[in-house]
Amino acid sequence: MMLKGKNVVLGVTGGIAAYKAADVASRLVKTGADVKVIMTEDATRFIAPETFRAIVNNRVYTSVFDEKEEGVAHIELARNADAVLVAPATANFIGKAACGIADDMLSTVVLAAHDKKIIIAPAMNCHMYENPIVQENLKRLMERGFVVIEPESGHLACGEDGKGRLPQPEDIVERVFAEIAYEKNLAGKRVVVTAGATQEALDPVRYVTNHSSGKMGYALAKIARAKGAEVTLISGVTSLKKPIDVNVIDVVSARDMYEKAIECFDDCDIMIKAAAVADYRPKSISEQKIKKREGALVLELERTDDILAQLGKRKKGQILVGFCMETEKLVESAKRKLKDKNLDMVCANSLNKEGAGFGTDTNIITLINKSGNEEELPIDTKENLAAEILDRAAELLK
Ligand code: CTP
Repeated sequence: MMLKGKNVVLGVTGGIAAYKAADVASRLVKTGADVKVIMTEDATRFIAPETFRAIVNNRVYTSVFDEKEEGVAHIELARNADAVLVAPATANFIGKAACGIADDMLSTVVLAAHDKKIIIAPAMNCHMYENPIVQENLKRLMERGFVVIEPESGHLACGEDGKGRLPQPEDIVERVFAEIAYEKNLAGKRVVVTAGATQEALDPVRYVTNHSSGKMGYALAKIARAKGAEVTLISGVTSLKKPIDVNVIDVVSARDMYEKAIECFDDCDIMIKAAAVADYRPKSISEQKIKKREGALVLELERTDDILAQLGKRKKGQILVGFCMETEKLVESAKRKLKDKNLDMVCANSLNKEGAGFGTDTNIITLINKSGNEEELPIDTKENLAAEILDRAAELLK
């Protein structure tokens, strides 16, 4: 997740979750974003400004009156920000923001940044969170375009169990990424992505599968969401963390994936089939565990449905994108698949190149579209390549 060139103001208010904001700050810095931290006075009772200063390598703002810089710091901070993230946001901060009160550095910057993306992560005792006054304030802020990250349920610092925990720093940063990393050129579009490997059962303990990690498909889902699309991810078996704000449908076999893909296809604008679907499955599934015997065991396999080919036949204006992974004659077979399966674009990747293929964080892809355009993209992260693929698909949609 890269946010290079983006300016993020991180506001920290005085709740016990303030210590987690150090992790949020650190993760934001790792994305390449320039991070400026503003703490309320109460926040400094939970965690020292020096901690943030060291993490973000920038000065930390605690008062409007110690503006040591040229210009007016609170206005400069608001003007330059791509996003203002307040995590944790106390009930007090939320109340002030909802009423337009600006009595410290953070609330002043938030007021001055009304034309910027403001994301808040409430964290407090569950009864405080459920208080209709807090809920009304949050509703009011959302109506004004604030993005509110819902707190999680669980054990709270006060000893109670309930809703009010600050979400994982990783998820908070993913939310910031989703809001500001890309232009929303897929807003209003429905994108369906399939990802990962299918498993074809042989008996209750064994199955036939492949090496797909699902990374390319998950990157496509996450970036499509960050480009503003409504995303459904039909996921085969992977060990990856689910992307936020994406409708995930878990499937196991090629048959399950086929059914879900057909179900989602008619209503979508773009369907990208990045999954590594089994071409064959065991002809019969033994109800009991197969016991070993003397001599060889011969398995009979039968063909699975070619999902992509079926979708190609049903297509009515959707953009259908396939993947093609080969060990030889890459472009030639990619072009054949494009034509045979009635695709709009195929993403061809060679298994023979270093930095491409299964399990890696990078890939090397040649894009071929139905007009015969062929474009070899340089080696890049799967996320950056996902952005390129989605932009090409969005252009085809026009
Ligand atoms: N695919 C699919 N259903 C299958 C097999 C593959 O939808 N049963 C899709 C994959 O998701 C991918 C594309 O088809 O987008 C290409 O998969 P690949 O295995 O490379 O191609 P095949 O068509 O299976 O051809 P071949 O076996 O000749 O390589």
